[in-house]
Amino acid sequence: MTNSVKLTSLTTKGGCGCKIGPADLDQVLKMLPPVQADPNLLVGLETGDDAGVYKLNETTALVQTLDFFTPIVDDPYSFGQIAAANAISDVYAMGGTPITALNIVAFPISSLDKSILADILRGASDKLTEAGVTLVGGHSIDDQEPKFGLAVTGTVHPDHIKTNAGAKPGDRLILTKPIGVGISTTSIKRELLTKEEIDRVSKVMATLNKTAAETMNNYQVHACTDVTGFGLLGHAVEMAKESNVEIRITKEQVPILPRVRELAEHGAIPGGTKNNFNHIKDKVTFAEQLDQIDQWILADAVTSGGLLIAVDKEQADKLLADLQNQKVEAAIIGEVTEGKAGFISVV
Ligand code: CO
Ligand code: CO
Ligand code: CO
Repeated sequence: MTNSVKLTSLTTKGGCGCKIGPADLDQVLKMLPPVQADPNLLVGLETGDDAGVYKLNETTALVQTLDFFTPIVDDPYSFGQIAAANAISDVYAMGGTPITALNIVAFPISSLDKSILADILRGASDKLTEAGVTLVGGHSIDDQEPKFGLAVTGTVHPDHIKTNAGAKPGDRLILTKPIGVGISTTSIKRELLTKEEIDRVSKVMATLNKTAAETMNNYQVHACTDVTGFGLLGHAVEMAKESNVEIRITKEQVPILPRVRELAEHGAIPGGTKNNFNHIKDKVTFAEQLDQIDQWILADAVTSGGLLIAVDKEQADKLLADLQNQKVEAAIIGEVTEGKAGFISVV
């Protein structure tokens, strides 16, 4: 390997390379005319869902999504794997099967070693193979700041789409990966993590949501989303809003990566995490013992996070055991209540 460049240090000033925050995005979208109604558009922009779903015929709908970002780890192969797992995840979160993908590449081709880009693409390609997805092309631009991601297309039966709407009072909430990813990756940039800790968070991000999704599809799942840029609380608020329910999360049950609390106390909290928190704080009540650090951790911006699944109460323990038997790091983290629609309470 010829790579001695720290990929995460190549971010240009003036932006964080992270997702544009929900508040800013809302303001932009409000400036646009409403999207033209198309009866075949089953899931579009307005519900804050993971991917768009477009009906082709009575048995098949297309699931389309795209995601890209600046390097969050220094190892290019690992970055490629993570970007691919993250992009494909939105198809799984809709209950779909991913089929094809296109690479999106921005790379300083004259100043960085070409083998770095080759390693990024190889990481992505290996993940696509693992997911059974075929690469059909891509597009690249010469750019000072490296960015990588993919557009992914899948299919789903129109009657079996999972959205963030549909969670029912009584449902249990299952999360299939630990959180704390934003704080951990910020800590990589600040050189606060050991090699083992970097490997651990990289592996969590590079894990496909394939097994979790395929397993979930055998149970009475009422709603699903994947936990990514808006954080656990942000995605839970979306689910509560679209499902017209309250969600209660038990902090103690939420799986969190090692040392996240300590790293957060040392200030390794990404700007995106604080934006997330400010955007949802009016919709969330926290138990008294949960301080500001705990609250930020629960709102921490995630890359390539797990599925957040609302499953029928009677089936929750069985689904959990099924997931855990297949080495999915799943936990029951809360439940759905009638309560105050669109709100979250954390105990
Ligand atoms: Co998503
Ligand atoms: Co996405
Ligand atoms: Co969804």
